[in-house]
Amino acid sequence: MLVSAKEMLVKAKAGKYAVGQFNINNLEWTKAILLTAQENNSPVILGVSEGAGKYMCGFTTVVNMVKGMIDELGITVPVAVHLDHGSYEGAKKAIAAGFSSVMFDGSKYEIEENIEKTKEIIALANSKGISVEAEVGAIGGEEDGVVGGGEVADPDECKLIADLGIDMLAAGIGNIHGKYPANWQGLNFEVLDQIQQKTGIMPLVLHGGTGIPADMIKKAISLGVSKINVNTECQLAFAAATRKYIEEGKDLEGKGFDPRKVLAPGVEAIKATVKEKMELFGSINKA
Ligand code: 13P
Repeated sequence: MLVSAKEMLVKAKAGKYAVGQFNINNLEWTKAILLTAQENNSPVILGVSEGAGKYMCGFTTVVNMVKGMIDELGITVPVAVHLDHGSYEGAKKAIAAGFSSVMFDGSKYEIEENIEKTKEIIALANSKGISVEAEVGAIGGEEDGVVGGGEVADPDECKLIADLGIDMLAAGIGNIHGKYPANWQGLNFEVLDQIQQKTGIMPLVLHGGTGIPADMIKKAISLGVSKINVNTECQLAFAAATRKYIEEGKDLEGKGFDPRKVLAPGVEAIKATVKEKMELFGSINKA
């Protein structure tokens, strides 16, 4: 079922677990993630960056591909198609194309402008039952051309944005997209707790899920994180499995290059990664 992320995250916050957002890049990734969610009876959020959306031939193609797969694969767990780090224009386009959830990342604007633009996106999304994620305090690192400075969010600004009527809030707490550097200081739990105190029942989102140690993930969930985004780890798993298959010369066996065979180990690697994360986040059997 293609649904907004609202209800699954309200349930996750109350049940003290987190729903995984796994970013998709093509048909194989989407299929791997949907099948894993179904096999583990877990709700799931498919993240689509603007770059990945373009790569997959636009937001409408993405929505139709996901809807088609839900139907053809018999997926009955709740699935949200969510714009990841959407620009103001990108969020509007995703809403028009039928996404069930959007992130408007206004963290690069001054707080006043972030508020004004977030309000507009909320009004548009609400009229169609689409959930909205907003961001305060840029997430560090680079993701698909979107570069964030790795700030720690101001809990008072978080409250201002949370009160606008969003469904989930991403707040920078020292998290970074991609691999963490060896000298990373870890997540700032003090600030996370302050944000949770100020925003109450608002589901909080942890970006940069790749490489955060399991104990920190669990602590973050205990402090109100209800959605965790993972992208790089699936990419690494997919690349390693594909590389191994090609290095072993298996792509040359038989009748030549068959993408269904060459990409199959990568699909299995994504499935294993997603299952491991669902176990860690506690979302298994929560559909
Ligand atoms: P990672 O690539 O670090 O897993 O982060 C994903 C993410 O936060 C998507 O918004």
